[in-house]
Amino acid sequence: MSSPIVLGIETSCDETGAGLVRDGRLLGHAVASSMAEHARYGGVVPEIAARAHIDALRPVIAQALADAGLRLSDVGAVAVTAGPGLSGALQVGVAGAKALAHALDVPLHGVHHLAGHVAADTLEHGPLPDPCMVLIVSGGHTSLVLVRDLATEPVVHLGDTLDDAAGECFDKVARVFGLPYPGGPAIDRAAREGDPHAVAFPRPLTGPGHDPYAFSFSGLKTAAARWAERHTPAAPPPVADGAAALQEAVADVLTRKAVTACTDHQVRTLVVVGGVAANSRVRALAEERCAAAGITLRVPPLRLCTDNGAMIAAVGDLLVRAGAEPAPPTLAVDPSAP
Ligand code: KG4
Ligand code: ZN
Repeated sequence: MSSPIVLGIETSCDETGAGLVRDGRLLGHAVASSMAEHARYGGVVPEIAARAHIDALRPVIAQALADAGLRLSDVGAVAVTAGPGLSGALQVGVAGAKALAHALDVPLHGVHHLAGHVAADTLEHGPLPDPCMVLIVSGGHTSLVLVRDLATEPVVHLGDTLDDAAGECFDKVARVFGLPYPGGPAIDRAAREGDPHAVAFPRPLTGPGHDPYAFSFSGLKTAAARWAERHTPAAPPPVADGAAALQEAVADVLTRKAVTACTDHQVRTLVVVGGVAANSRVRALAEERCAAAGITLRVPPLRLCTDNGAMIAAVGDLLVRAGAEPAPPTLAVDPSAP
């Protein structure tokens, strides 16, 4: 007997996502983004994000169902991001998920947003090996975690960023460079025309005596801003070179530490997830270094790297199949979930 079809709902930031998963297989999904509405503020405005989720949630669920060729009555369980994320934004998804689960009389599961990013990869590459090392790199997180079984065992946290997340560093430096929001993809595009060795940006926390699994990107952000400020309107900074050099520094630090973590813990598989996993240089350098170290690299396809509902449905599906206890009808959002 096959397990129920799980509807996953994601509203933790500026993407409204819905996805349908059964037995580890992605049946359909849809995403709407309020990114354009935040662009002129240079960052996500929580109030705007929450309102956009209210407008988008029903159409996005309908679109995901249509994509899968399913009807709402086919849904056998609902999974929703409970945290971490923006409080008002999370509330919209959780309220919607509760209403749906109640109306359909199906179980509800609260999902950790980062577990979603990890599970995204299973939709493309199958179940994760036990153990595997996961580098989570997004706009809000930069973490190295050792994963055994996502549904039943807590992950082991090896390290986090001490200040800015890698995506945040890209977003903030892009602004200084005069590139559009969101900065990560803009830096990636600009870097194609640049020389990664044109500027020697620092590689924070990589020297001897530093925590091998801790990250820091705020110094790198400042170094990039200083470099841009040294130029004048008459002789503007060669932004492509700055972008390429910054991207090289971030990719170098991320992949070096991730491969070290694998080697130290004798883990043979590295999974790189989150929005920054979409970065072309991060992907290429991870590929190169994993191959050299005999480590299998897994990176979800681009469309599943950034926030989406399919990844939340993927965790819901794992929970359902592991026989996890459903969430109570009082499920609360947890904006600062650890
Ligand atoms: O995972 P995500 O969609 O949302 C969070 O949970 O944060 O990640 C968004 C982050 C943003 O900082 C964005 O600039 C970055 O991922 N990003 C990229 C690329 N695409 C998205 N950073 C570098 N290169 C990219 N191609
Ligand atoms: Zn995310």
